[in-house]
Amino acid sequence: MQSIPCQIQREVDVYVAMSRARELALAVGFTAVDRTRIEIVILELTRNLLVHAGGGTLTLTRLSDPLRGSGLAVTAVDTGPGIADVTLALQDGYSTAHTLGAGLPGVRRLMDEFSIDSTVGVGTCVRAVKWLTPPQRSVRYEY
Ligand SMILES: Nc1ncnc2c1ncn2[C@@H]1O[C@H](COP(=O)(O)OP(=O)(O)OP(=O)(O)O)[C@@H](O)[C@H]1O
Ligand SMILES: [Mg+2]
Repeated sequence: MQSIPCQIQREVDVYVAMSRARELALAVGFTAVDRTRIEIVILELTRNLLVHAGGGTLTLTRLSDPLRGSGLAVTAVDTGPGIADVTLALQDGYSTAHTLGAGLPGVRRLMDEFSIDSTVGVGTCVRAVKWLTPPQRSVRYEY
């Protein structure tokens, strides 16, 4: 599995991560729409690292799963203050920075898999995965 770690400490690092993600998403074979979704996710997670955690590491990983096929995982890890109430943080409009509060819920909607592991005083790990072929959301029976 190919993994690209990107240190996010300054504004300019966001654009470097975006460009690496764009290259990787193209190499995996994502459509233009999915590549845009992935870019938005990178933007939101890197901005959260800078605004809420004083920086961290964003890692892009190319996935290859025998059942799910090809995919891309985006992991944002920091040793910032952590999130006291993850359920609240995932609600649309919740923000401790008095901004839109659209980042985390947006990331969850744009990707196929999403998880947050956060401990107050220790840090936060957000992981989101996009598969090349989206999961079947409904079962269709053909006779
Ligand atoms: N890496 C992080 N470390 C600590 N707290 C975080 C982190 N990421 C998000 N949060 C908390 O979760 C809340 C919701 O995050 P979200 O990205 O949805 O909104 P926002 O960053 O406040 O606003 P927006 O992303 O719309 O500009 C944040 O206000 C913050 O309290
Ligand atoms: Mg945000």
